[in-house]
Amino acid sequence: MIYLNGEWMPIEQARIPVLDRGFIFGDGVYEVIPSYSGHPFRLREHLARLQSSLDGVRIENPCSLARWDELVREIVAKNPWEDQGVYLQVTRGVAPRDHAFPKGVKPTVFMMSNPLTTPAPEQRERGVAAITVADNRWLRCDIKSVSLLANCLLRQSAVDAGAAESVLLRDGFLTEGSASNIFAVKDGVIITPPKSNFILPGITYDVVIELARANKLPLQIRQVSEAEVRDADELWLTSSTKEVLSISTLDGSPVGSGKNAGKPGPVAARMYQLYQDYKRTVMRAPARV
Ligand code: PDD
Repeated sequence: MIYLNGEWMPIEQARIPVLDRGFIFGDGVYEVIPSYSGHPFRLREHLARLQSSLDGVRIENPCSLARWDELVREIVAKNPWEDQGVYLQVTRGVAPRDHAFPKGVKPTVFMMSNPLTTPAPEQRERGVAAITVADNRWLRCDIKSVSLLANCLLRQSAVDAGAAESVLLRDGFLTEGSASNIFAVKDGVIITPPKSNFILPGITYDVVIELARANKLPLQIRQVSEAEVRDADELWLTSSTKEVLSISTLDGSPVGSGKNAGKPGPVAARMYQLYQDYKRTVMRAPARV
Protein backbone atom coordinates (compact mmCIF):
# COMPACT_ATOMS: atom_id res chain seq x y z
CA MET A 1 0.00 0.00 0.00
CA ILE A 2 1.18 3.50 -0.80
CA TYR A 3 0.04 6.93 0.38
CA LEU A 4 -0.68 9.71 -2.07
CA ASN A 5 -2.19 13.06 -1.05
CA GLY A 6 -4.33 11.73 1.76
CA GLU A 7 -5.30 8.38 0.25
CA TRP A 8 -4.07 4.81 0.63
CA MET A 9 -4.00 2.59 -2.44
CA PRO A 10 -2.01 -0.16 -4.17
CA ILE A 11 0.92 1.35 -6.06
CA GLU A 12 -0.54 0.27 -9.42
CA GLN A 13 -3.46 2.63 -8.87
CA ALA A 14 -1.34 5.66 -7.95
CA ARG A 15 -1.37 8.48 -10.53
CA ILE A 16 0.15 11.94 -10.54
CA PRO A 17 -0.57 14.67 -13.09
CA VAL A 18 2.18 15.20 -15.68
CA LEU A 19 2.42 18.85 -14.59
CA ASP A 20 3.60 17.87 -11.13
CA ARG A 21 6.73 19.96 -10.58
CA GLY A 22 8.48 16.88 -9.28
CA PHE A 23 8.12 15.41 -12.77
CA ILE A 24 8.76 18.61 -14.73
CA PHE A 25 11.59 20.16 -12.67
CA GLY A 26 12.67 17.58 -10.08
CA ASP A 27 11.25 20.20 -7.71
CA GLY A 28 10.92 18.26 -4.49
CA VAL A 29 12.67 16.57 -1.61
CA TYR A 30 12.64 13.08 -0.14
CA GLU A 31 13.65 10.80 2.72
CA VAL A 32 14.48 7.10 3.02
CA ILE A 33 13.72 5.76 6.50
CA PRO A 34 14.57 2.18 7.45
CA SER A 35 12.15 0.35 9.71
CA TYR A 36 13.23 -2.72 11.66
CA SER A 37 10.54 -5.09 12.99
CA GLY A 38 7.99 -2.29 12.93
CA HIS A 39 10.26 0.35 14.50
CA PRO A 40 11.19 3.28 12.26
CA PHE A 41 14.90 3.99 12.78
CA ARG A 42 15.84 7.51 13.94
CA LEU A 43 12.49 8.86 12.78
CA ARG A 44 12.89 12.16 14.62
CA GLU A 45 16.22 12.78 12.90
CA HIS A 46 14.87 11.85 9.45
CA LEU A 47 11.93 14.21 9.93
CA ALA A 48 14.26 17.00 11.10
CA ARG A 49 16.34 16.51 7.93
CA LEU A 50 13.13 16.53 5.86
CA GLN A 51 12.27 19.88 7.44
CA SER A 52 15.66 21.35 6.59
CA SER A 53 15.41 20.04 3.00
CA LEU A 54 11.95 21.63 2.71
CA ASP A 55 13.30 24.88 4.16
CA GLY A 56 16.21 24.70 1.70
CA VAL A 57 13.86 24.60 -1.29
CA ARG A 58 11.16 26.82 0.26
CA ILE A 59 8.32 24.30 0.34
CA GLU A 60 6.07 24.58 3.37
CA ASN A 61 5.93 21.33 5.32
CA PRO A 62 2.51 19.85 4.46
CA CYS A 63 2.33 17.77 7.67
CA SER A 64 3.05 18.29 11.34
CA LEU A 65 5.71 16.17 13.02
CA ALA A 66 2.97 14.16 14.75
CA ARG A 67 1.22 13.53 11.41
CA TRP A 68 4.44 12.35 9.73
CA ASP A 69 5.09 10.09 12.69
CA GLU A 70 1.63 8.60 12.28
CA LEU A 71 1.95 8.20 8.49
CA VAL A 72 5.33 6.46 8.66
CA ARG A 73 4.05 4.01 11.30
CA GLU A 74 0.88 3.48 9.30
CA ILE A 75 2.68 2.63 6.06
CA VAL A 76 4.91 0.18 7.91
CA ALA A 77 1.85 -1.44 9.48
CA LYS A 78 0.06 -1.67 6.11
CA ASN A 79 2.94 -3.49 4.42
CA PRO A 80 3.95 -7.08 5.08
CA TRP A 81 7.75 -7.05 5.34
CA GLU A 82 9.60 -7.42 8.64
CA ASP A 83 12.20 -4.78 7.70
CA GLN A 84 11.19 -1.99 5.36
CA GLY A 85 12.62 1.04 3.61
CA VAL A 86 10.05 3.81 3.77
CA TYR A 87 10.41 6.33 0.94
CA LEU A 88 8.65 9.65 1.26
CA GLN A 89 8.61 12.50 -1.19
CA VAL A 90 7.19 16.02 -1.15
CA THR A 91 7.06 18.06 -4.36
CA ARG A 92 5.99 21.66 -4.84
CA GLY A 93 2.77 20.44 -6.47
CA VAL A 94 0.97 20.69 -9.79
CA ALA A 95 1.01 23.91 -11.85
CA PRO A 96 1.47 25.15 -15.44
CA ARG A 97 5.15 24.92 -16.33
CA ASP A 98 6.97 28.04 -15.16
CA HIS A 99 10.29 28.06 -13.34
CA ALA A 100 9.05 30.58 -10.76
CA PHE A 101 7.05 29.13 -7.87
CA PRO A 102 3.29 28.88 -8.40
CA LYS A 103 1.07 30.56 -5.81
CA GLY A 104 -1.49 28.73 -3.69
CA VAL A 105 -0.51 25.25 -4.84
CA LYS A 106 -0.64 22.31 -2.45
CA PRO A 107 2.50 20.15 -2.24
CA THR A 108 2.24 16.57 -3.50
CA VAL A 109 2.87 14.02 -0.73
CA PHE A 110 3.83 10.49 -1.72
CA MET A 111 5.00 7.60 0.45
CA MET A 112 5.83 4.02 -0.42
CA SER A 113 7.55 1.21 1.40
CA ASN A 114 9.73 -1.59 0.07
CA PRO A 115 11.41 -4.59 1.64
CA LEU A 116 14.67 -3.34 3.16
CA THR A 117 17.55 -4.98 1.36
CA THR A 118 20.78 -4.61 3.27
CA PRO A 119 24.05 -5.87 1.71
CA ALA A 120 24.34 -9.63 1.15
CA PRO A 121 26.67 -11.55 3.53
CA GLU A 122 29.14 -12.00 0.68
CA GLN A 123 29.40 -8.23 0.18
CA ARG A 124 29.93 -7.82 3.92
CA GLU A 125 32.70 -10.39 3.99
CA ARG A 126 34.50 -9.24 0.87
CA GLY A 127 33.66 -5.56 0.77
CA VAL A 128 32.71 -3.80 -2.45
CA ALA A 129 34.57 -2.15 -5.30
CA ALA A 130 34.46 1.62 -5.70
CA ILE A 131 35.90 4.12 -8.14
CA THR A 132 36.82 7.78 -7.68
CA VAL A 133 34.91 10.33 -9.74
CA ALA A 134 34.97 14.15 -9.82
CA ASP A 135 32.02 15.49 -7.83
CA ASN A 136 30.20 17.60 -10.42
CA ARG A 137 26.97 18.11 -8.47
CA TRP A 138 25.49 21.47 -7.44
CA LEU A 139 26.57 23.27 -4.27
CA ARG A 140 23.55 22.33 -2.13
CA CYS A 141 24.28 18.63 -1.63
CA ASP A 142 23.01 19.07 1.95
CA ILE A 143 19.45 19.19 0.55
CA LYS A 144 17.94 15.74 -0.02
CA SER A 145 16.50 16.79 -3.36
CA VAL A 146 14.74 14.44 -5.78
CA SER A 147 16.80 16.14 -8.54
CA LEU A 148 19.22 13.21 -8.53
CA LEU A 149 20.37 13.21 -12.16
CA ALA A 150 23.98 14.00 -11.25
CA ASN A 151 23.95 11.27 -8.56
CA CYS A 152 22.47 8.80 -11.06
CA LEU A 153 25.20 9.60 -13.61
CA LEU A 154 27.88 9.23 -10.93
CA ARG A 155 26.47 5.91 -9.75
CA GLN A 156 26.22 4.65 -13.33
CA SER A 157 29.93 5.46 -13.82
CA ALA A 158 30.59 3.04 -10.97
CA VAL A 159 28.31 0.37 -12.43
CA ASP A 160 29.95 0.77 -15.87
CA ALA A 161 33.31 0.12 -14.18
CA GLY A 162 31.95 -2.99 -12.43
CA ALA A 163 31.93 -1.20 -9.06
CA ALA A 164 29.27 -0.61 -6.41
CA GLU A 165 29.83 3.04 -5.57
CA SER A 166 31.54 6.21 -6.75
CA VAL A 167 33.70 8.01 -4.19
CA LEU A 168 33.41 11.69 -5.01
CA LEU A 169 36.28 14.16 -4.96
CA ARG A 170 35.91 17.92 -5.21
CA ASP A 171 38.96 20.19 -5.52
CA GLY A 172 41.24 17.45 -4.23
CA PHE A 173 39.11 16.54 -1.23
CA LEU A 174 36.64 13.76 -0.40
CA THR A 175 32.99 14.76 -0.31
CA GLU A 176 30.82 11.60 -0.15
CA GLY A 177 29.52 8.74 -2.31
CA SER A 178 26.86 8.98 -5.03
CA ALA A 179 24.31 7.68 -2.48
CA SER A 180 26.33 7.30 0.73
CA ASN A 181 28.72 9.01 3.12
CA ILE A 182 32.35 7.90 3.19
CA PHE A 183 34.68 7.19 6.11
CA ALA A 184 38.42 6.46 5.99
CA VAL A 185 40.60 4.80 8.63
CA LYS A 186 44.33 5.48 8.97
CA ASP A 187 46.47 4.03 11.79
CA GLY A 188 43.30 3.25 13.76
CA VAL A 189 41.85 6.77 13.43
CA ILE A 190 38.43 7.13 11.78
CA ILE A 191 38.36 10.20 9.52
CA THR A 192 35.37 11.72 7.74
CA PRO A 193 34.55 15.12 6.23
CA PRO A 194 32.50 17.59 8.29
CA LYS A 195 28.91 18.44 7.42
CA SER A 196 28.72 21.24 4.87
CA ASN A 197 26.86 22.15 1.70
CA PHE A 198 29.07 19.59 -0.10
CA ILE A 199 27.58 16.49 1.55
CA LEU A 200 24.26 15.11 2.68
CA PRO A 201 24.08 15.05 6.49
CA GLY A 202 23.59 11.29 6.67
CA ILE A 203 21.58 9.79 9.50
CA THR A 204 23.88 6.75 9.43
CA TYR A 205 26.89 9.13 9.41
CA ASP A 206 25.59 10.64 12.67
CA VAL A 207 25.05 7.22 14.23
CA VAL A 208 28.57 6.08 13.28
CA ILE A 209 30.08 9.25 14.78
CA GLU A 210 28.05 8.83 17.97
CA LEU A 211 29.08 5.17 18.28
CA ALA A 212 32.75 6.03 17.70
CA ARG A 213 32.61 8.67 20.44
CA ALA A 214 30.65 6.50 22.88
CA ASN A 215 33.18 3.69 22.43
CA LYS A 216 36.23 5.94 22.50
CA LEU A 217 37.35 5.02 19.00
CA PRO A 218 39.78 7.67 17.71
CA LEU A 219 37.85 9.98 15.38
CA GLN A 220 38.68 13.08 13.37
CA ILE A 221 36.02 15.09 11.56
CA ARG A 222 37.95 17.14 9.06
CA GLN A 223 38.70 17.55 5.38
CA VAL A 224 40.11 14.36 3.84
CA SER A 225 42.51 14.85 0.93
CA GLU A 226 42.51 12.66 -2.17
CA ALA A 227 45.96 11.39 -1.13
CA GLU A 228 44.54 10.29 2.24
CA VAL A 229 41.67 8.50 0.52
CA ARG A 230 44.14 6.60 -1.65
CA ASP A 231 46.42 5.85 1.29
CA ALA A 232 43.69 4.78 3.75
CA ASP A 233 43.91 1.47 5.65
CA GLU A 234 40.14 1.15 5.38
CA LEU A 235 37.34 2.88 3.50
CA TRP A 236 33.67 2.48 4.38
CA LEU A 237 30.46 3.74 2.93
CA THR A 238 27.44 4.38 5.12
CA SER A 239 23.75 4.79 4.34
CA SER A 240 20.35 3.80 5.67
CA THR A 241 20.19 0.82 3.32
CA LYS A 242 23.89 -0.17 3.16
CA GLU A 243 24.50 0.45 6.90
CA VAL A 244 28.32 0.25 7.30
CA LEU A 245 29.90 -1.40 4.27
CA SER A 246 33.61 -1.76 3.52
CA ILE A 247 35.13 -0.63 0.24
CA SER A 248 37.80 -3.20 -0.54
CA THR A 249 39.11 -1.87 -3.85
CA LEU A 250 39.39 1.69 -5.11
CA ASP A 251 39.97 2.28 -8.82
CA GLY A 252 40.93 -1.40 -9.06
CA SER A 253 43.64 -1.25 -6.36
CA PRO A 254 43.24 -2.95 -2.99
CA VAL A 255 42.38 -0.64 -0.09
CA GLY A 256 44.93 -0.87 2.74
CA SER A 257 48.14 -2.81 2.93
CA GLY A 258 49.63 -5.86 4.63
CA LYS A 259 47.41 -8.76 5.60
CA ASN A 260 44.19 -6.74 5.37
CA ALA A 261 44.86 -5.33 1.89
CA GLY A 262 41.74 -5.60 -0.27
CA LYS A 263 39.67 -6.96 2.64
CA PRO A 264 37.33 -5.31 5.15
CA GLY A 265 39.44 -4.10 8.07
CA PRO A 266 39.12 -4.53 11.85
CA VAL A 267 37.74 -1.05 12.57
CA ALA A 268 34.94 -1.60 10.03
CA ALA A 269 34.12 -4.94 11.63
CA ARG A 270 33.94 -3.28 15.06
CA MET A 271 31.74 -0.45 13.79
CA TYR A 272 29.43 -2.84 11.95
CA GLN A 273 28.95 -4.78 15.19
CA LEU A 274 28.33 -1.61 17.22
CA TYR A 275 25.78 -0.54 14.61
CA GLN A 276 23.93 -3.88 14.79
CA ASP A 277 23.90 -3.71 18.61
CA TYR A 278 22.59 -0.16 18.49
CA LYS A 279 19.82 -1.18 16.08
CA ARG A 280 18.72 -3.86 18.52
CA THR A 281 18.45 -1.40 21.43
CA VAL A 282 16.35 0.94 19.29
CA MET A 283 14.05 -1.93 18.39
CA ARG A 284 13.48 -2.68 22.06
CA ALA A 285 12.52 0.91 22.90
CA PRO A 286 10.04 2.32 20.39
CA ALA A 287 9.96 6.10 20.75
CA ARG A 288 7.43 8.38 19.18
CA VAL A 289 8.68 11.72 17.93
N1 PDD B 1 20.69 7.90 0.09
N2 PDD B 1 24.76 10.89 0.70
C1 PDD B 1 23.92 10.75 -0.33
C2 PDD B 1 24.17 11.51 -1.58
C3 PDD B 1 22.81 9.88 -0.21
O1 PDD B 1 21.95 9.75 -1.23
C4 PDD B 1 22.62 9.14 0.99
C5 PDD B 1 21.48 8.20 1.19
C6 PDD B 1 23.55 9.33 2.04
C7 PDD B 1 23.42 8.59 3.35
O2 PDD B 1 22.37 9.13 4.13
P1 PDD B 1 21.58 8.24 5.20
O3 PDD B 1 22.60 7.68 6.11
O4 PDD B 1 20.68 9.21 5.88
O5 PDD B 1 20.84 7.18 4.44
C8 PDD B 1 24.60 10.21 1.85
C9 PDD B 1 19.47 7.15 0.23
C10 PDD B 1 19.58 5.89 1.00
C11 PDD B 1 18.84 6.99 -1.15
O6 PDD B 1 18.86 7.96 -1.89
O7 PDD B 1 18.30 5.92 -1.45
